[in-house]
Amino acid sequence: MIIIGFESSCDETGVALVCTERGLLAHALHSQIAMHQEYGGVVPELASRDHIRRVLPLTRQVLQQAGVKADQIGAVAYTAGPGLAGALLVGASVAQSFAWARGLPAIPIHHLEGHLLSPLLASPRPGFPFVALLVSGGHTQIMRVDGVGNYQLLGETLDDAAGEAFDKTAKLMGLGYPGGPALSRLAQQGDASVYDLPRPMLHSRDLDFSFSGLKTAVLTRVKNIEKDCGQLSEQQRADLAAATEAAIVDVLAAKSIKAMKQTGLKRLVVAGGVGANSHLRAKLVQAMSKLGGEVFFPPLEFCTDNGAMIAFAAAMRVNAELVDLSDMRHAFTVKPRWELHDVCVDS
Ligand code: KG4
Ligand code: ZN
Repeated sequence: MIIIGFESSCDETGVALVCTERGLLAHALHSQIAMHQEYGGVVPELASRDHIRRVLPLTRQVLQQAGVKADQIGAVAYTAGPGLAGALLVGASVAQSFAWARGLPAIPIHHLEGHLLSPLLASPRPGFPFVALLVSGGHTQIMRVDGVGNYQLLGETLDDAAGEAFDKTAKLMGLGYPGGPALSRLAQQGDASVYDLPRPMLHSRDLDFSFSGLKTAVLTRVKNIEKDCGQLSEQQRADLAAATEAAIVDVLAAKSIKAMKQTGLKRLVVAGGVGANSHLRAKLVQAMSKLGGEVFFPPLEFCTDNGAMIAFAAAMRVNAELVDLSDMRHAFTVKPRWELHDVCVDS
């Protein structure tokens, strides 16, 4: 069965076609980064309006790319939450209208489940069970994944998400939005050992995180440097970026390894935007090989938000017989706040 999937939870409009037997057929993405850049962050109303403009051209694009006719589609998937209410409503209403007009079932997908299963779009594919480190702009969670719809939360951030820590520290260093890639690029020219930044909760016994103190520590450093030297030099900025990145990566890696030891599992899967960070990738590859295990990442283009992961999560749910394909009710709601546990098979 061919499933069309729509993602519109934040600042990326994504549409994709996935076949339940053959996998990904085509995907298309429009990122709103350039539009939000001048405001230093996502403007929700602008995001919603842009999703409206992009979603149908992207839909035509994936159909053409895959050589698939609309009447070959068997189900429609969309991100129903969590995310920005107005942005979610665009994808949800387009998907539900498409499904209603063609007499197809519509499958609401949890955005984090999309991220969580996205490493399975890569080859080789990790088998279940695995530990997942989910690191996006809004979430930082460690989960045990035993199968589709079988997720157990092992730890999470108590305040800022890892992506948020990247974005907020980048912003106070005068870097653009989104901060993660910008800070990471600058860090390549820096020396992480110049500034000693805290590793929050590194030694706590649990698998939880806290990143808000790091942002304050970076701010204090910036103010001290400005007091002593006036403005931050290019090298000081690069060193501070490298130290910030190292602090975030160290904590993420240490907690991931602790989770591997705690669960006794040998497969680690990394998902979400921060999973694109090359320093995090290298550190986890090294740590997992030392542990005699393996780490899996989604292809880079599927780390940040995209439609492929939504269509793919729906296909996995269909294959696992977790979807009632005879349900033709097309009333819908979106859930800007939504716990992943609500989509677990035992919930
Ligand atoms: O998963 P995602 O696209 O959106 C959410 O669901 O939140 O993640 C976006 C986050 C942003 O905070 C962005 O700064 C971060 O991922 N990010 C990165 C990198 N690429 C994206 N953080 C660090 N290094 C990167 N290379
Ligand atoms: Zn996301």
